[in-house]
Formats: sequence, structure tokens, C-alpha cells
Amino acid sequence: MAKNTKIKKIIIGNWKMNPQDSIKAKEIFTSIRKTARTLTKIKTVICPPFVYISELRKLVNTDRIAVGAQNAFYENEGSYTGEVSPSILKNCGVAHIIIGHSERRAKGETNEIVNKKVLKVIGEKMTVVLCIGEKERDHAGEYLNFLKAQIKESLNGISKKELNNIIIAYEPVWAIGKSDKEAPQPADIYEMTIYIRKVLSDMFGSDVASMVPVLYGGSVTSKISLGILKDGKVDGLLIGRQSLDPQDFSITLKQANDL
Ligand code: PGA
Repeated sequence: MAKNTKIKKIIIGNWKMNPQDSIKAKEIFTSIRKTARTLTKIKTVICPPFVYISELRKLVNTDRIAVGAQNAFYENEGSYTGEVSPSILKNCGVAHIIIGHSERRAKGETNEIVNKKVLKVIGEKMTVVLCIGEKERDHAGEYLNFLKAQIKESLNGISKKELNNIIIAYEPVWAIGKSDKEAPQPADIYEMTIYIRKVLSDMFGSDVASMVPVLYGGSVTSKISLGILKDGKVDGLLIGRQSLDPQDFSITLKQANDL
């Protein structure tokens, strides 16, 4: 993928712990690929469970679609039973790795652990899709400080140059896994992207901060994706359940391409 270019929107599908077998995984991927390969202005990245990565990679015949990963460990090799490293994923042809998804944070992944993972992935010259998002909103606006801490601590030790390999996915936890009616409004998402860029700008300077793609994720369907892309002014989407439904997902891909 062209590094963090502002030309293309990036739409990432996070399949989570689905589907249940590789036949189904290949079927869904092939169906998404059919649309994705025709779309010149967007990049589609599908992040399946680790075990399907190699098989799905064999189906990639265009650079308009790629296979990413949902997580990686913070060491590249060694005695770490059950873990998968950035270097192993790189050798499987993966270039994008989701780090710090809220479902992992809920299982104990702290900003410190996320930071170690970010540094390792960046060290392999791969792209991090860093997930941030507040659990709830309070009237005093404390959630903004929570987000700021997530960004600062997760990106600790990253250089300006390395920021080229970072994508931020803003996923308010309260909007994940819900109905599309519960997603934030595009204007609200736009405000959050401004805030995220402000934090990045304070850390790295406005020139590089403005180049970082900021995505939205949480209960996106084709009913709301166009509004979020257009009026939320995001650089793309991180999509869970809808990315397992090739028909609806393809509508969103086309909307992103036609903007
Ligand atoms: P959802 O998941 O689209 O199913 O809400 C989004 C995510 O967790 O990345």
C-alpha cells in the first residue's frame, strides 16, 4: 500500500473470531475481492483469524485488497506459547496489524503492552492500525483525557518518520457491536477526528499529524457509512460484523470509492 497517502480511503474488515471454517472464509473473501478489485480509489484490508491468513493470501491477485492481522505479540521470536509475532506475520505477507482493539484491552491489554506491540510492528516496517476509544462519555469531558492518554502512551517512543506507518482507528467502545442507530453522528465523529489530530499534532507537529489516516469503527453498515465517510471526514473505516456480509460491505466499499 502507498504509505499513509491521503489519496485513498482505507476500509478494514475485522472478522474477529469468525467464520468457523476456511471454506466459508475463502467464500466471503472471494466475494469481497470481486468488488474490491474494481475500486481504484480505496484500499480494502481484511483481517481474518490468524489460521486463515495464508490461505486467503493465495487469493490476493490485486493490490487493491490485502490480508491483515487482528493482533501480534511484542517479541519477534522465542518461547511464547500461543503468540504470533510481527515478523511471522510479515513472512506470511501481512502488512497491516490491528493493535489495541478494545476487545483485547478488555482482556487486560494496557497502553503499556499496546506500546510494546506498536514498537515491534513498526520495527518490522509494517503498518499499525492503532485502536483507541472511550468506554463511555461523561459530561465533564474526562473521556477526552482518556483518549489523549491512550494515544500518548500507545505511541510513546515513535519517531516522526515512523508515524508514517500508523493508522488511528477511533472506535468508541459504547458503539461497538450495537445497531447502526447507536453509532455517533457524523458531525460528532468529525469533532473526534479533529481532537485526535490535535493530540497528534502536539506530539509530533502538525505537518506529520495531518498525514495520519484517522478511521472510524463501531456498528458501521451501508446505511450510515456514506454519512460517516463524507460528513465525518474520516480517512476510512474499521468494520466488524458488516465485513462478514459481502453484499452490504461491498456497498460501503463502493460508497468510499465514489466519494
Ligand atoms: P462492529 O465492530 O462493526 O461489529 O461494531 C467494530 C470493531 O470492533 O472493530
